[in-house]
Amino acid sequence: MGFYFTLLPAMDKPSPTPRAIVFDAYGTLFDVHSVVAACEALFPGEGRALSQLWRTKQLEYSWLRSLMGRYVDFNVVTQDALQYACASLRLEWSEATSTTLNDAYRRLSLFDDTRATLEQLRARQPSRKLAILSNGAPDMLNAVVTHNGLMFDLVLSAFDAGVFKPDPAVYRLACQRLDLPPAEIAFVSSNGWDAAGAKAFGFTTYWINRTGAPGEALGLTPDRQLATLSELLAL
Ligand code: LAC
Repeated sequence: MGFYFTLLPAMDKPSPTPRAIVFDAYGTLFDVHSVVAACEALFPGEGRALSQLWRTKQLEYSWLRSLMGRYVDFNVVTQDALQYACASLRLEWSEATSTTLNDAYRRLSLFDDTRATLEQLRARQPSRKLAILSNGAPDMLNAVVTHNGLMFDLVLSAFDAGVFKPDPAVYRLACQRLDLPPAEIAFVSSNGWDAAGAKAFGFTTYWINRTGAPGEALGLTPDRQLATLSELLAL
């Protein structure tokens, strides 16, 4: 078990051939807005607005709880964010609504290129580890990975750090469990704030910017910005 601490921004050169590729889950491999249909079925005409606000509050609550030192697992954060979003949009929330929509979160769809990209990355270099590192709770991640029939060498949850990304303790889990230094790990996320946190920790970072969004002004630039997950295959 290696212990890797980054006291200063990592000065290591990004590894041209990382020994592991670690993926964020929600928004990167799995489309969080594939719950729009379930939201729309319950609240016709409000599905997209509810899904957007739900995701926004889910992330806000993960950051706020980390800063307050009041970690709860991502199931609770996701349920609480949904309850807020329903109240904010004046939609009738109930336990049944919560169960239906939170269950849908365990069956999110993949992005169109997720499966083929993972399969080709595995085929090209079978010895290179492929892992997930997510704020998701272990049961949530196992459910959505299994539902989609994906295979990873490791599925790592912030639950084991007791804090959410972008706290370095979460990224450090990947070094500890893979027994690799930060510079030997490539981190892939569609969330610009998550890519910035991973860069701060010392990973080689790939930001999947599907929407052409501006880079986050956090004083950190991902090593590569890609428009799709499959562009990883060209690197
Ligand atoms: C995750 C969320 C933050 O999977 O995208 O960690």
